[in-house]
Amino acid sequence: MATRKLLLLPGDGIGPEAMAEVEKIIAHMNVAEGAGFVLERGLVGGSAFDAHGVAISEGDMAKAMAADAVLFGAVGGEKWAGVPYEVRPEAGLLRLRKDMELFANLRPAICYPALANSSSLRPEVVEGLDILIVRELTGGVYFGEPKTITDLGNGQKRAVDTQVYDTYEIERISAVAFELARTRRNEVCSMEKHNVMKSGVLWKEVVAATHRARFADVKLSHMLADAGGMQLVRWPKQFDVIVTDNLFGDMLSDVAAMLTGSLGMLPSASLGAPDAKTGKRKALYEPVHGSAPDIAGQGIANPIAMIASFAMCLRYSFGMVAEADRLEKAIAAVLDDGIRTADIMSDGMTKVSTGAMGDAVLAKYKALSA
Ligand code: IPM
Ligand code: MG
Repeated sequence: MATRKLLLLPGDGIGPEAMAEVEKIIAHMNVAEGAGFVLERGLVGGSAFDAHGVAISEGDMAKAMAADAVLFGAVGGEKWAGVPYEVRPEAGLLRLRKDMELFANLRPAICYPALANSSSLRPEVVEGLDILIVRELTGGVYFGEPKTITDLGNGQKRAVDTQVYDTYEIERISAVAFELARTRRNEVCSMEKHNVMKSGVLWKEVVAATHRARFADVKLSHMLADAGGMQLVRWPKQFDVIVTDNLFGDMLSDVAAMLTGSLGMLPSASLGAPDAKTGKRKALYEPVHGSAPDIAGQGIANPIAMIASFAMCLRYSFGMVAEADRLEKAIAAVLDDGIRTADIMSDGMTKVSTGAMGDAVLAKYKALSA
C-alpha cells in the first residue's frame, strides 16, 4: 500500500472547520480505497502565534518540507491585528511559500452551472467559465528588498517595497503556464504593466522569448494588468490561461474568484520545481478565501474551496486523476441538487451547514465510486 504523507495546517478562523470536511473524505479514502494517507498536523498563523509566538514553528516548517503535500486552511483575524509585523499570521504562509520554493500558484476559476445565478455578473457572462490564473508566488513585491519604513526625521516617514524579477523567475512561471495551456484550450494571456514598470518590460520580453523558443504552438497574447482586470469582468470567457506576477495575480485572482459566485468556491495549488532525482514537486494546496473571522465557529462556512483544493492535491501531487475527477464531479452534483451554504444561497435552494455540505459531497463521492 502506498504511503502518502500529508501535513494539515488548518490555521485560523474558518480554516479548521473547512479542513474537518476534507478529513472526512481522507478517512473514507483510506478505509474504502486503501489510499494510504498518513496525516500530520501543525499550526500556522494566529494559532501558531498563540502557541509558539511565531507564525509557524521550526518543527512545523520541517514537517512541511518533509511532506508529500501540505493542505493549508486560512490565516489571520482581528485577534492578531496588533502582533509584530514579522510574526503576523500571513508571515507563516509567506514563509511556507518561500522556503518550499512554491513559485507556481495555480488558481482555477470555474463557474459551476448551478451557480451561474450567484455571480454578481449576468449569468451569460459567467456560465461555463473555466479559466486558470497562473500567479508567480515567490518573487516580486512580496519578497523584494529593500522593504522598509524609514523615519525621515521631519515628521514624515517613507515606506519602500521593491518589485524585482530575474529572467529565470519569469521563464519558469511562463513555462508552467504554457505547459498547462497545452492541456486546455492552448491559449495564454500574460499580464503586466510595461507602460510604467521596468519589471513589466522584462516580464513581457521574457514571456515572449520563452514562447518563441519552446512553446510557439501555444497562442500567446499580452495585456496591461489594469486592462486585464477590466476584461475579466467584461467578458471573462475570452481567457484560457492568464500568467502574471505575484501582486497582480493576488488581485486578479480575487476578481476571478468573485466571477464564479463566491470566494468560497475557489481552490488553489502552489507548486515548486520538480526534484532533479525524484521528479516530485513540493506542493501546498489552499482555498483562495481567507479566514473569515466574522463567521468562524458558526458552522456556516463553505468548505467547497477546501475540498476542491484537496482534489487538486490528488491530481497534482499523487497522480490520482480518477479520484480527483470524481471529487470534482461530486461537488458539481451536490450543487446541482440545490444544496447550498449561506454564501451561495439563493431562492428555492436548501441551506446547509459546513458539516452537512461536507457530508453531501462525500455521499456523492461514494455514490460515484460505486
Ligand atoms: C492570497 C492571500 C495572501 C496573499 C495573503 C493572506 C498573504 O491574499 O493567497 O491570495 O496576499 O498572497
Ligand atoms: Mg489574495
